[in-house]
Parts: sequence; structure tokens; C-alpha cells
Amino acid sequence: MAFPFPASLSEALDHLLIAADEGLRALSGTAVPARPAPRAEGDGPGDAPARDLSGRLMRVNHAGEICAQALYSGQALVARDDAVRDALRSAASEERDHLAWCRDRLQELGSRPSYLDPFWYAGSFAWGVASGLAGDRWSLGFLAETEDQVERHLEGHLDRLPPDDHQSRAIVAQMRDDENRHGAMGRALGAKDLPLAVKSAMRAASRVMTRTAYWF
Ligand SMILES: [Fe+2]
Ligand SMILES: [Fe+2]
Repeated sequence: MAFPFPASLSEALDHLLIAADEGLRALSGTAVPARPAPRAEGDGPGDAPARDLSGRLMRVNHAGEICAQALYSGQALVARDDAVRDALRSAASEERDHLAWCRDRLQELGSRPSYLDPFWYAGSFAWGVASGLAGDRWSLGFLAETEDQVERHLEGHLDRLPPDDHQSRAIVAQMRDDENRHGAMGRALGAKDLPLAVKSAMRAASRVMTRTAYWF
């Protein structure tokens, strides 16, 4: 079995610096997207309550993308296999697009990120490291389950977003498609199916985050 930690101090420092840089970029709102945001016609939602709802839902999605950055960063930090680490970093780059798209959409809607983003980041980073330490196949299982749950969550938001908020809907639909691909990537790399109790705990944790970020 491969040793789970970098072979040298300088390699360990490299990984830690990358992780610190990823955290700072995510939390400072300076993550640069590699792809332009999907664009849709129209400048809805037209009325204030609908705009407020869109702002809250996109804040929840932005907080979810903060969590995704942290999870992937934590998992990549302790991944044993270089191929797994590369796959995590490539998916994280698409998550960075999602983060930037949500952040820009929040501004357009006159809303704001969650005050608790640093807390979401820290908690998710710890989950990422813990799942990574359990081994690459468990880590990939955690990733695949997370992506499945996020995909279902985004489907729910497509039902809840105001019908005339075409721009938010275009972003969420693209994110959902990307999350679906990330989950498939995890399974293709050998993800283990997580125990039901772990899946339930993950659902409970994400409920706390989504309900809190809606308000704060
Ligand atoms: Fe995402
Ligand atoms: Fe994803």
C-alpha cells in the first residue's frame, strides 16, 4: 500500500501551500473562472420578492461551492495516488467556475455571500481530509455521493427559482450537469459505495448548511 503522505518535507510544504492558496482564493472572492458563465436572455426576476428569493437560493449555492472547494482541496492534500489527485484538481477547477459564477450572480441580484463561508470552508476541509485519509477509494466514494446529493439539490433549486430568473437557472443547470460528470468520474476511478449511515450524516450536514446559508 502506498504511504499516504508526501515523501519529502518540501513536497508536503508544496501541498500545504497549494491548499492554503486555494482556501484564500475561495474565501476572498478572487477565484478566476476558466469558463465564462452560461448566459441567458432576460433580466428577471422582475419583482422584489422573487429577486430576494433568487438571491437567497444563489447564496446557498455559493456556500455549496465554497464547501466543494474545501472538500476537493482537503481530499487532494492527502490523496495517495497522483492520478486521483489530478482528477480531484481538475474537478476542483470546474467547481471554481461554479464559485465565480455564483458570486457574480449574487452581485447582479444585489445579494451577498453567506457570513458563515469561513466556517463552511473549515468544516468541509476537515471532512475532505478525513475522507482522504480513509483511502482513495473511500475518498472517491465520498466525492461521488457528495456530487449525487448536490445534483439532486440543484434539481430542487431549478424547481424553486423564479421562472423568469433565466440567468440563475442557466447557471444552476450547467452546475448540475458538471456535478453529474464529477460523480461519474469518481465512480469511474473506483469509488466505494458509502455505508448508509455516512450518507445520512452527509445529508444532515448539508441540510444544516443549506438552511442556515439561506438566512445568513
Ligand atoms: Fe459545483
Ligand atoms: Fe462537482
